[in-house]
Amino acid sequence: MTAFSDTLIERLVAADRVSVLTGAGISAESGVPTFRDPGGLWEKMRPEELANFSAFLSNPTLVQGWYAHRRHIVEVAQPNAGHVALAELETLYHDFTLVTQNVDDLHRRAGSRNIVELHGNIMRNYCVDCGQPADEPNLASPDERGLIVCTECSGLVRPDVVWFGEMLPLGAFEAADAAARRAEVFLSVGTSAIVYPAAGLPGTAKIHGAFVAELNIRESVIADDLHEVVLGPAATVLPDLVRAIKDKRPPAK
Ligand code: OAD
Repeated sequence: MTAFSDTLIERLVAADRVSVLTGAGISAESGVPTFRDPGGLWEKMRPEELANFSAFLSNPTLVQGWYAHRRHIVEVAQPNAGHVALAELETLYHDFTLVTQNVDDLHRRAGSRNIVELHGNIMRNYCVDCGQPADEPNLASPDERGLIVCTECSGLVRPDVVWFGEMLPLGAFEAADAAARRAEVFLSVGTSAIVYPAAGLPGTAKIHGAFVAELNIRESVIADDLHEVVLGPAATVLPDLVRAIKDKRPPAK
């Protein structure tokens, strides 16, 4: 059983408003690679060659192929006990916001409802020319050049994810920031807290009075600024946390 401070448990038991930020670490135990851990995506692939719009235009086959590969990993992956625990945690609060940097859709598949996707969703795709959404079988039917193109206008299809140099989805950061400001308890789970503006949310929550805990297998770069760090894998620590509080709180009506 994971050890938590009495303060974290008491604050979670008493809270009305809880917000959580997740990063790639929560999906690691579902078999989805993280970015910056040993063996992570950015060790094998350079972000500047893949995750930006000009890279996409200069080598769409490479970028579409890389995202098709990642989409396949996510499609065969299953939400793990950490995702499921966060969906259960949500049922205990009237005001619960799950802010995720992940594009893998696993929180929704685990049953979370109030999700703010800061970096988009790899399962959604659209045409860069006319904006038309692209779904299966379109995504699985490349043209004679091997490219996935729009069925309406033959424009290139891209994933609906945030690439380097791009804005976050309209309203997403505002919703995440508001959730951080009003939270009484804020959990930062499985993120290296290196990519802003997401990495600023735990600090925002703390300044506005939340008790802020990091849950991670190792301390992130912001860990020293937070109230508590709980070390351990998310698929173990989160179910333990829910177990520690749920009998002390009725489910939210
Ligand atoms: P990172 O790969 O930077 O960090 C993963 C974090 O998860 C690290 O802090 C690990 O210690 C932790 N971790 C690994 N396995 C874990 C486990 N089983 N349980 C708990 N923690 C674990 O991923 P992010 O912080 O999500 O952006 O990266 C942020 C952004 O950088 C991503 O959204 C992506 C990337 O560039 C875009 O693509 C826009």
